[in-house]
Formats: sequence, C-alpha cells, structure tokens
Amino acid sequence: MSAADRSLEPGTVEPLLKGRLGRPLRFVEEAESTQALLGPDDPEGALAVAEHQTAGRGRLGRRWEAPSGTAITASVLLRPAAGAPIQQLSLVAGLAVAETVEDTLQLSAQLKWPNDVMVDRRKVAGILAEARERVVVLGIGLNVNQTREQLPEGARTSAASLRTIDGEERDRAPLLADLLARLELHYDAWATGGLDAVFDGIGSRDFLRGRRVRIDGHEGVGAGLDRAGRLLVDGRPVESGEVELV
Ligand code: BTN
Repeated sequence: MSAADRSLEPGTVEPLLKGRLGRPLRFVEEAESTQALLGPDDPEGALAVAEHQTAGRGRLGRRWEAPSGTAITASVLLRPAAGAPIQQLSLVAGLAVAETVEDTLQLSAQLKWPNDVMVDRRKVAGILAEARERVVVLGIGLNVNQTREQLPEGARTSAASLRTIDGEERDRAPLLADLLARLELHYDAWATGGLDAVFDGIGSRDFLRGRRVRIDGHEGVGAGLDRAGRLLVDGRPVESGEVELV
C-alpha cells in the first residue's frame, strides 16, 4: 500500500463518499484545529480534514494530539433545526464512530458519556460539538494508526488506537467514509425522531452503566442514560460535567 493510499486527500476520500456529508471537502496538511476551518457560511455536510493539527482541541479546554497522518482528525458542519437539543449530537456522533470501530475491529465499542468512544476500557475516539451562530461544528478525533508510544501519556482516560488494539495499520479514507455515512444515517434519524430514534444503539453501549463515578465532586453509580441523553447517577440526571471513574 502506498503512502498516497493512506492519505485523506480529496482524491482518495471523495470517491468513497456515499451520502451528502463530506461535501465539500476542505483538506489541509496542517491546521491549528479543523474546528476553525468551518463556519456559518459553509453548507451542511461540509467537511474539514487535516493531516496534522498544531492546536487540536478536546472538551473542557483540553488538547487533542496525534502525530501527522496517523489519526482521523475531521470536523463536519451541521445545521440542526432551531431549538434542537444539540448537546445530544456528541452521543449521536459517538454512535456512528462506535459502529465504525466495531465493524473494523470486530470488537464491541462503548460510549463513555458524553463524548468518548471506548474499546477495552481505553479511549479510541473523542467528539467535540461546538455551536456557533445557528450551526454546529462537530469534531471527530479517531486514533487509527498511532503506535503505543505515539499516544498521549498521562491522559485521564488511557488511550488506544485501532492499531494498538489489533496490530494492523490501515487506510483511513474508507474508515472516514464509513463513519460519515453512519453519521448521516443517525443524524437524519435524530433530526426527525429525536434521540429516541437512535437511543437503542446509544443506551446499549453505555460504558458508565454500573460503574462507580465521580462527577463534579459527587460520587455515585452510573445508572444508564435517560431518553434526553443525560447521565443518570444514582437515579439523578446529570446534564453535563466531567466524569471520573472511581
Ligand atoms: C475530546 O476527546 O475531548 C474531544 C476530542 C475532539 C478532537 C477532534 S480532532 C478534529 C476536531 N478538531 C479539533 O481541534 N478537535 C476535534
């Protein structure tokens, strides 16, 4: 397999796209963050992809880092209806990523509320949904070909890549195309039917269910997600926050 085959350049990705997400595709070798490459003037479905981010962002002001050409670092522009509960989009996108990972590895993946995708108790992907002027820029970071040494050390949740899980190096373009197709399916279902329309796939992959967690200083046991996508801790719904495993 040549280096070109492994790239995420438009010539490699566009022929694999199946739906409307991913078009137009803005590809750059390097950007501070793909989140900054999209804005309200872009159409729904616009995609920004970078081989390397110099200031990749995670949730809660954290950094998201990956060596050039190893991960999928992409942002998609969405235009949900006014008043839609856009905080649910992290879970909707997480479902698309989890299914893509499962299909690739033939292993089950879980969603760690609100935005992480886990395999074997390690984080393989994170989602960052940012709302701006009537649009949502949905960022996806999926660890694909990093070696163990290339993964961030000392992260709160230990990280894995698809490669550290099964030893295989893979093309990222088919993974990205598959992920976008699944995201489109789940996003459209959510847009018309709300979270209920995709809840089974999300609820059944809940990583925190039955685990002891601390969230904003309170400890309790994860008791699933409610139909609004909130985390239930000892039966009480939590809207947002930082979850630590105890
Ligand atoms: C998290 O785990 O806290 C979210 C990580 C989101 C990372 C992706 S990579 C593509 C997009 N650009 C960014 O700067 N962040 C998101």
